[in-house]
Amino acid sequence: MKSKHKIIFSDSRKLTDVKKHSVDLVVTSPPYPMIEMWDDLFTQLNPDIGAELSMNNGKAAFELMHKELDKVWKELDRVVKPSGFVCINIGDATRTIGKQFQLYSNHSRITTQLSSLSFRPMPLILWRKATNAPNKFMGSGMLPAGAYVTLEHEYILIFRKGDKREFSTPTDKETRNKSALFWEERNIWFSDTWNLAGVRQSMSNKKLRDRNAAYPFDLPYRLINMYAVKGDTVLDPFIGTGTTLFAAIASGRNSIGIEYDKNFSDLIEEGLISVKALSNETVRKRIKDHSEFVETYRQKKGDLKYLNESHNFPVVTRQEKLLQLDIVKDIDFKNLSNISVEYNQLSRDQIERNNQWTQTSNKQQKTLYTQGKLLP
Ligand SMILES: C[S@@+](CC[C@H](N)C(=O)[O-])C[C@H]1O[C@@H](n2cnc3c(N)ncnc32)[C@H](O)[C@@H]1O
Repeated sequence: MKSKHKIIFSDSRKLTDVKKHSVDLVVTSPPYPMIEMWDDLFTQLNPDIGAELSMNNGKAAFELMHKELDKVWKELDRVVKPSGFVCINIGDATRTIGKQFQLYSNHSRITTQLSSLSFRPMPLILWRKATNAPNKFMGSGMLPAGAYVTLEHEYILIFRKGDKREFSTPTDKETRNKSALFWEERNIWFSDTWNLAGVRQSMSNKKLRDRNAAYPFDLPYRLINMYAVKGDTVLDPFIGTGTTLFAAIASGRNSIGIEYDKNFSDLIEEGLISVKALSNETVRKRIKDHSEFVETYRQKKGDLKYLNESHNFPVVTRQEKLLQLDIVKDIDFKNLSNISVEYNQLSRDQIERNNQWTQTSNKQQKTLYTQGKLLP
């Protein structure tokens, strides 16, 4: 199996290089309107935005910022295939402009816009990002009625373009079966609240650190595995540090990433160097988690009913019988516009070794890993 990826440095308000109906899934996080770190970028996109902010016209600035994002959403309407999905991670903003404090509801403004195109809103996910900061509460403290609730969540908005996707040919059905999730993963990934830790901002490049709002790898990894099958094409029109690209590589899906700021290229290249290890560590962890789940299930409810044919795992449902995990064999890229990835199917032997791994101590694990006896 192989996958292809490209990063294009351009403005996603015009997706000139992306063909009509060529994308199966969009996973992205735009710059957040009314969050101060993005004011300059929005002002570059439309100088009227800076003017409205300096005149304390919060409402007008909010609307103009969204008008720029609307251009991208309209392009998605063209490039996404019928029955394709769009997943948008976005947070609302709280801000005082002039003397007025208010919430700017980015998620509802984007939902309204996408719904006016050919996208149907689907049940969404709340991403809980709890903060322990001692100064997290705003306003009048213990005294009513001038305090404000702290925002400790972001949204993952989910839309489908029209009707349910059909998998009618034998090849389509086979690919879908191979792309299945484990039952216990489904139970967590398809619940409406995700508790994922944020990403530590530890970038050496100060300019980029200020402009970086990366989401954690697990966020696009889950969404890609939930809403696309192997071999599909995933688009991120705001690729930033490349997290969606890395998650697509780890999942055996093709991808296209668009980024306005060329300064991100070094960071994406750096990520590509370690993405093989990241991908294979992700697969290893899924197997380890599954083995632990199987043990607990057996103790509580007895043997699992089905056997996975690709890897010999016990599984809960018939739908998991053909589930197949692939590991990255090789990544080849001369430049970011042409990245190709080759995969190997995980062998039974590797799974066996990995299962032994789950029964060893941390110290033994380290030795096995350095001896190359665990997943590459
Ligand atoms: C919230 S960040 C995305 C972070 C990304 N999810 C990650 O994990 O690194 C938004 C990104 O969109 C880029 N951007 C903003 N406007 C853009 C536009 N019109 N076209 C392309 N990229 C844009 C910004 O430079 C920034 O890197």
